[in-house]
Amino acid sequence: MDLMYIENKARQYHSSDATGHDFSHIERVKNNAIKIASHYIDADINIICCAALLHDVADHKLIDAKDHDVVIDMMRGWIKEAGGSDASARHILHICQNISFSTRDKNDSLSLEGQIVQDADRLDAIGAIGIARTFAYGGAKGRKMYNDNGRDTLSHFYEKLLMIKDLMNTHIGHQMAEERHHFMKEFLSHFYDECSLKQQ
Ligand code: NI
Repeated sequence: MDLMYIENKARQYHSSDATGHDFSHIERVKNNAIKIASHYIDADINIICCAALLHDVADHKLIDAKDHDVVIDMMRGWIKEAGGSDASARHILHICQNISFSTRDKNDSLSLEGQIVQDADRLDAIGAIGIARTFAYGGAKGRKMYNDNGRDTLSHFYEKLLMIKDLMNTHIGHQMAEERHHFMKEFLSHFYDECSLKQQ
């Protein structure tokens, strides 16, 4: 499969994003996925890289629900144009549609490749980069940083970021998450202190 072709499509698609789903996120997820996959010799690295590159194209935060099927068809077209088989396209699209944190109760169970891409995506939601993305996203949505009754950015740490470590699929992913989790706890304790807030 011609991954460069897929990468160019994903780069174009994400070029105008200011919500933390820009192409640099996609690149970090791909790199995290390659790092995790290096511990799993049975994992299909082409499927993993392609799914990492395409994982946010059909994200519900970026597209309208009514456009979902059209976007999935467009992605299938890209995979075929890149030389991917029907089976590869099905596998990649299944991963992309079942790794989201917000739909975690409804997701199908994932293949090894899917578990690796999901871990790679989740790693980018935590640690220093996760903190930066969370505040960037909150700013783009016009949210307050704190003290706004659950609508503020700080609440997002408790609704998602601090839960992620225990949701990792792979052993190596869990190890990588531990360090980032610890750093977020440290950040929060300084944040509360500097803003004279009570620790939640
Ligand atoms: Ni993502």
